[in-house]
Amino acid sequence: MTAQNTSRLQDLAVEVLKENDRGTYTVPTKGLYPFQWNWDSCFTALGQAHFDEDRAWTEIETLFAHQWPDGMVPHIVFHVHDEGYFPGADVWQTGRPTPTSGITQPAVAGFALRQLFERSKDRDAAERRARTLLPKAEKWSAWFYANRDPKGQGLVAILHPWEAGRDNSIDWDEAFERVPTEGIAPYTRRDTQHADPAHRPTKAQYDRYLWLVEHFRGLGWDNSKLHDASPFQIVDPGFNAILIRGCQDLAVVAEALGETELATRNRARANKGLAALEQLWSDTHGQYLCLDRVTGTLVDSASIGGLIPVFAAIPPERAKAIGAVIQRQAERLKYIVASHDPADERFDAKRYWRGPVWLVCNYLIVDGLQAAGETAVAEMITRSSLELIEQSGFAEYYDPTTGEACGGGRFTWTAAMVLEFLASRGRG
Ligand code: GLC
Repeated sequence: MTAQNTSRLQDLAVEVLKENDRGTYTVPTKGLYPFQWNWDSCFTALGQAHFDEDRAWTEIETLFAHQWPDGMVPHIVFHVHDEGYFPGADVWQTGRPTPTSGITQPAVAGFALRQLFERSKDRDAAERRARTLLPKAEKWSAWFYANRDPKGQGLVAILHPWEAGRDNSIDWDEAFERVPTEGIAPYTRRDTQHADPAHRPTKAQYDRYLWLVEHFRGLGWDNSKLHDASPFQIVDPGFNAILIRGCQDLAVVAEALGETELATRNRARANKGLAALEQLWSDTHGQYLCLDRVTGTLVDSASIGGLIPVFAAIPPERAKAIGAVIQRQAERLKYIVASHDPADERFDAKRYWRGPVWLVCNYLIVDGLQAAGETAVAEMITRSSLELIEQSGFAEYYDPTTGEACGGGRFTWTAAMVLEFLASRGRG
């Protein structure tokens, strides 16, 4: 890419981030997602750090200002009232001072915290702000293992597809058969008014999303009860890898700040998680798979959730195998990385998390492949990601067969990831 194109893309990305900035938090995109989303904010901060360090810290601080007393950091913070989104605060009814949802999302915060800490030019501010955030982030990690790994096996379960951040992945289809739909309150979806219904989850899926919300609400959002009471308990390898990497990164920051006990606790969590992750490896697919904790079986669904673990310190031969899976994808598809194996008949190029490319996932995978020395595949993914932007702009996600923009437009995390990709290119 020419220097001129790079600088033009950077300017456009900054414009998107500023446009979606609401002062102390950033919305993923106007209309479709009018509040603060958990993992979106962590990716957003990485982008903001390129042009406004102070603002980047604020993004994460705002998220943690809404942490629950038990340690959970919710997946949505409803800072404002907006009729255009469903299910809103009135459906969740979590009773928080500023309304939030009652479930969580991938724990990207540990990674983001370390990145901001190490990149900050204002060292005093970075130390001060990291020191305040560190115990909060550790409390969230502790919450995960206490509430989502009640038997202490080293891996945490998600209890709702929205927690994985991969809402309608094929990974959940089988387990979703167990989730009833009887008795849910009548509702009107809003997402399909902002985006093409053919790209969104189906009504049958939506009914089950809501049944779970109503079921958990009926249990008073008491996290000590939710895990065992949920008919949906999935151990997602990508979700766990992000948490594991977060614990490792928290340990690094803690050491730099002289918090050695906090560092030791987080290293122990990460090491236990890494060892347990091996149970999810599939030689047949050359990648990790989800575990259905209710049935105790691996889910035969080769999704991007099984490639993301390269983001954690998995064994080098696993990273190599994951690189090979992506290389094979590149032979069939115009753009990578698809959110589901394109050779699987259930692959759907346009439907949300059942095939399309998402830049945040590409970013996590590139970071991991680079660390593992798989630089050629990493570069292939970076190139593909930037070509998508040049062809189709800052969309929510993309059809990997054509590069067509899908979902919401002028999307925050996509813009943030573009700044990250361009900067890592610049570093060479
Ligand atoms: C969708 C995505 C989720 C994301 C949210 C806001 O629900 O599946 O991962 O956090 O939108 O962008």
